[in-house]
Amino acid sequence: MEWTFCCWNNCCMLTVSPLSFSLAGPTGAQAAEFGHLPDNITVLEGESVILRCKIDEEVTHKAWLNRSNILFTGTDKWSLDSRVSLVNNNNSDFSIKIEQVMVADEGPYTCSFQAKNQPRTAHVYLIVQVPARIVNISQDKSVNEGDDVNLFCLAVGRPEPTVTWKDFRYGLMSEGEFLEITEIKRHQAEDFECITNNGVAPPDTHRVKVTVNYPPVITDVKNMPAQLGKTAILRCEAMAVPTASFEWYRDDRRPVESDNTLKIKNEKTRSLLLFTNVTEKHFGNYTCFASNRLGASNANMLLFRPGAVYGGAASLNGRLSGVGLWICLSISVLMKV
Ligand SMILES: *[C@@H]1O[C@H](CO)[C@@H](O)[C@H](O)[C@H]1NC(C)=O
Ligand SMILES: *[C@@H]1O[C@H](CO)[C@@H](O)[C@H](O)[C@H]1NC(C)=O
Ligand SMILES: *[C@@H]1O[C@H](CO)[C@@H](O)[C@H](O)[C@H]1NC(C)=O
Ligand SMILES: *[C@@H]1O[C@H](CO)[C@@H](O)[C@H](O)[C@H]1NC(C)=O
Ligand SMILES: *[C@@H]1O[C@H](CO)[C@@H](O)[C@H](O)[C@H]1NC(C)=O
Ligand SMILES: *[C@@H]1O[C@H](CO)[C@@H](O)[C@H](O)[C@H]1NC(C)=O
Repeated sequence: MEWTFCCWNNCCMLTVSPLSFSLAGPTGAQAAEFGHLPDNITVLEGESVILRCKIDEEVTHKAWLNRSNILFTGTDKWSLDSRVSLVNNNNSDFSIKIEQVMVADEGPYTCSFQAKNQPRTAHVYLIVQVPARIVNISQDKSVNEGDDVNLFCLAVGRPEPTVTWKDFRYGLMSEGEFLEITEIKRHQAEDFECITNNGVAPPDTHRVKVTVNYPPVITDVKNMPAQLGKTAILRCEAMAVPTASFEWYRDDRRPVESDNTLKIKNEKTRSLLLFTNVTEKHFGNYTCFASNRLGASNANMLLFRPGAVYGGAASLNGRLSGVGLWICLSISVLMKV
């Protein structure tokens, strides 16, 4: 090889070809032609790119270089990389192709040739982009109300992607890989979405579900009138995470038992006492007890005979030790009237 690359010694001249970019190629590979300025060719990691060198003069020697390493001199391949190949070599076009472009391929490439005994070069700068992608993110979380919650979302990409957390219910956005929620409240239990984007491909997103546990709160309690021989229902509704389990008690804290005139029906957020045929013995003071592993709550309510002197309201006793807002109502009055 008698050929020398004197263009590295400041004696290079600029080529005259006009500059143009084109997306082309039967393989869908990206192709670019370039002239005297170092142009940027942008390609996605994993795709193919064609580096075109237009020659419109009589050329005696020509070469392609990656930084200062020779890839090709004429049809002679110097590079050991099987991804690099010559796609065109004639009097007007000397082009190479790089397949499955890697991030390491980013950098300056040079087409160097001798025409009329003058060394000439053309430069191109290959930019390799990588779509933004989430590589690690918090697992779904189950925490107790009042805990601090920290979520993370790690993303990669070229150029450096942005990372945003979106709160699904309220649509609030928070920039950055880390989302901190101090003393989380039950209404903050929801899905949080991490969104990463660098404009190269559609954003990558991932959701994290945060469950906030709290002890039962009985929400709705009503004293119910009932007529002998008819049906009646007492309801006890409780909000809780995890869902509450329910128990029913009578005046003296005897557990209420199902029989052929009384059924207990437990549903997800409530429990029902179903009286199928009300008799005297059913009138009285019932206590609903709702509990989960974080605590318990109870409430009292009356099944009373209509027309009874009724001066009371059902009472929510709050947490186990809670103080009821009970306005006293004598059962004996109810039972006798
Ligand atoms: C090539 O990219 C660099 C940085 O990415 C930029 O500074 C330069 O202006 C670009 N050149 C051209 C010709 O677009
Ligand atoms: C060189 O090859 C290109 C692409 O195949 C073609 O368009 C062009 O006409 C050829 N030029 C010469 C001088 O053969
Ligand atoms: C270009 O050179 C860099 C650094 O030497 C190397 O890592 C990369 O694989 C080369 N790419 C090609 C297509 O030759
Ligand atoms: C994700 O991050 C967690 C916490 O930093 C770490 O324990 C785990 O090994 C990471 N997983 C992967 C696949 O990198
Ligand atoms: C309800 O119970 C009473 C007394 O036990 C009985 O006489 C009556 O037939 C029952 N009514 C129904 C609808 O079962
Ligand atoms: C109903 O029972 C509860 C619990 O046993 C008690 O605290 C409350 O005073 C009772 N209400 C009436 C009207 O007797």
